[in-house]
Amino acid sequence: MRTTLKIVLPLIISVAVISLLFAGYQVRTERRILRNDLSRRAEILGESLQESVEPLLDHGREKNLQRLVDRFGQREHLQGVAVYDTGGNALALTPGLAPVFKSRPATATHAAEKDSGYGQFLKVEGQPMHIYALPLHNNAKPAGVLALYHDTTYIDVQLSHTLRDALLTALIQTLLITALAMVLVRWTFTNPLTRTAKWLRTLRTGQSHAPPTLPEGEIFDQLHHEVTHLARDLNAARASAEKEARLRDTNASQWTSERLRVSLRNKLKGQPLFVVSNREPYMHVLNENRSVSVIVPASGLVTALEPVLLACDGTWIAHGAGSADRQTVDSHDRLRVPPDRPSYNLRRVWLTAEEEKGYYQGFANEGLWPLCHIAHTRPVFRPDDWLYYQQANRHFANAVLDEMEGTESPILLAQDYHFALLPRMVKEARPDARVAIFWHIPWPNAEVFGICPWQRELIDGLLGADLIGFHTQTHCNNFLSTVDRAVEALTEWDRFAVNRQGRVTRVRPYPISVAFPEQTRTINDSRNAGEERAALCAELGIEASLLGVGVDRVDYTKGIIERFRGIERFLELNPAYQRRFTFVQIGAPSRTDIERYRQFLDEVSAEADRINARFQNGQTGRWRPIVFLRKHHSHEEIDRYYRAASVCLVTSLHDGMNLVAKEFIAARDDERGVLILSTFAGAALELGDALLINPYDVQQLAEAIHRAVDMPEEQQASRMHHMRMHVREHNIYRWAANLLSDLTEIRIDTPDRAEVS
Ligand code: F6P
Repeated sequence: MRTTLKIVLPLIISVAVISLLFAGYQVRTERRILRNDLSRRAEILGESLQESVEPLLDHGREKNLQRLVDRFGQREHLQGVAVYDTGGNALALTPGLAPVFKSRPATATHAAEKDSGYGQFLKVEGQPMHIYALPLHNNAKPAGVLALYHDTTYIDVQLSHTLRDALLTALIQTLLITALAMVLVRWTFTNPLTRTAKWLRTLRTGQSHAPPTLPEGEIFDQLHHEVTHLARDLNAARASAEKEARLRDTNASQWTSERLRVSLRNKLKGQPLFVVSNREPYMHVLNENRSVSVIVPASGLVTALEPVLLACDGTWIAHGAGSADRQTVDSHDRLRVPPDRPSYNLRRVWLTAEEEKGYYQGFANEGLWPLCHIAHTRPVFRPDDWLYYQQANRHFANAVLDEMEGTESPILLAQDYHFALLPRMVKEARPDARVAIFWHIPWPNAEVFGICPWQRELIDGLLGADLIGFHTQTHCNNFLSTVDRAVEALTEWDRFAVNRQGRVTRVRPYPISVAFPEQTRTINDSRNAGEERAALCAELGIEASLLGVGVDRVDYTKGIIERFRGIERFLELNPAYQRRFTFVQIGAPSRTDIERYRQFLDEVSAEADRINARFQNGQTGRWRPIVFLRKHHSHEEIDRYYRAASVCLVTSLHDGMNLVAKEFIAARDDERGVLILSTFAGAALELGDALLINPYDVQQLAEAIHRAVDMPEEQQASRMHHMRMHVREHNIYRWAANLLSDLTEIRIDTPDRAEVS
């Protein structure tokens, strides 16, 4: 109430002052009008009386004069009339007129002297009056003065009524405006703020409710945005604290963001962490209406590394590939991200169109990508692309060195096949740096890798790192055999290290993972799988009682066409599932500047259309076997499909890890749903409770789908429970902790100190 008053009081005072000023103005105006009116009436009356009086001024006509004065004295508000001779003595006077008017008043004297009519408002013996005097003539000579006396008490009475009415109106207006303002303030500000405060209180006391709905508008939008994020952070912090407490209780060794933060703070001794990758975690893009929006690219690397940076702060150096990226950085090409809760630095590196084409599209994605994935697409190695690859590695290395400036013994985590040369470049300039590179894709056997004309240079660049990480032991072994074959170095198989010219590089498996959310769902997303499925089907305009889901960048390594054929075979063998089972393929178009990828996108669409056409006819209504959603989806959108699906299909022909498999498991806190997983994805080594398949075997895939949709709930729960335990335990924080812990324990090989770990 006090706050409302504080807001409303200035308004009340302003309204009251304005009303009073207006009332004063009204009274003054009315007074002027009434007085002018009276003056005019006195003048008219005076002039007509003057004409009648002047002929009676001759000697001996005093009686007639008195009769005339008596007659005129009977008018409204006119108190009397007097005729004075030139000496100022009354010749005729209205009976009852105050005795003081027996002799000429100053007003009349003034009129006589000026020889013209003159009027005045004044008080005579305490009574308000108006006196109007006119000079009289006889035979063109001054013969006296005529005076008219009006009682003006009525003006004062009328003005006091006007003042009273105006004050009353002002009071009513002030009261009404005050009441209205109070209602508005309470309704618009006080109530929403009180609701927000109450909600924050319930949040603080641990009761999770949906945030209150606030009115729309700039301030409230911001407030809503901030409190929603505050709540999310608070819930996350509480969940993390509870988890820590649970873990302490059970002596388990689970890694959380908080534990990683504390552990790294000790290990890094307050130093920042540097990460370099080609793909950036946040991309700003220009929309058609010139507004800018932020997207999180479809990338397993981003999914995995973002929680690490959020936990540790630091700087992520990456290619600024968004159309509005340059508009959103400072003069050092940096910005703080995530946009809604800035927690670490993103440093963007710019590439020319030729560099991007040669380094990223050409060497990395037409050369190394198909080389490392056994998916039967021939790698292409062009000399020009190789030059651009070297040039781009140099650009990124320079940006990394620039960011490291002023940091002693910095820690760098380089990411992926885009940067095979960068570890050596950085290490040469900063021998005190600890450098690790994580290779997110498979490493093929030595024979296959030998196809690359620049294998020696790539291996030499990688061996600049102190630590090289792969997803699996097999990839580590393949790498060591490739080193054995390609370069002069001592390969130490017993401790998985390479000793080259006295410098040691360790090679270790670190199976990457996801953050595994512990947060309980909010009211808005607490729908069960069936409700979510119904909602999604309604949005898609389809009818289906069972959903399957696949989530991929549209890439020829992901086995999407094989998957569709498996679904086709399943429907063919099990007609009872026609009109019941729909498979939703979320396919983010990827690397579309490369011909093979554009072609593949069309092949996937055409295959979905073919299968749909085969099973749909006049009787199948709104059912469709396959819904291919060929566009980028946010994590939140994808999460809904994960939770609604009875089965998730990961059918990669070859994959380093595949985080979709782990994301699906992390999303299923209801412990329902079945994962079908390719044995050629790194994830298959960890997720033995999935239905493991060979994606090239259409029959096996069809049978696995049938088994999945028919699987009893207890069996689903038991499999999902085991997989969830595993992913929870082997989450991304453990991945980062293991990798960074190994890296920080390495003694650095500086010119005056040989490495001896
Ligand atoms: O799988 C290798 C990888 O770099 C992933 O880490 C990432 O998910 C994917 O490729 C992204 O590809 P791009 O950055 O070319 O879109």
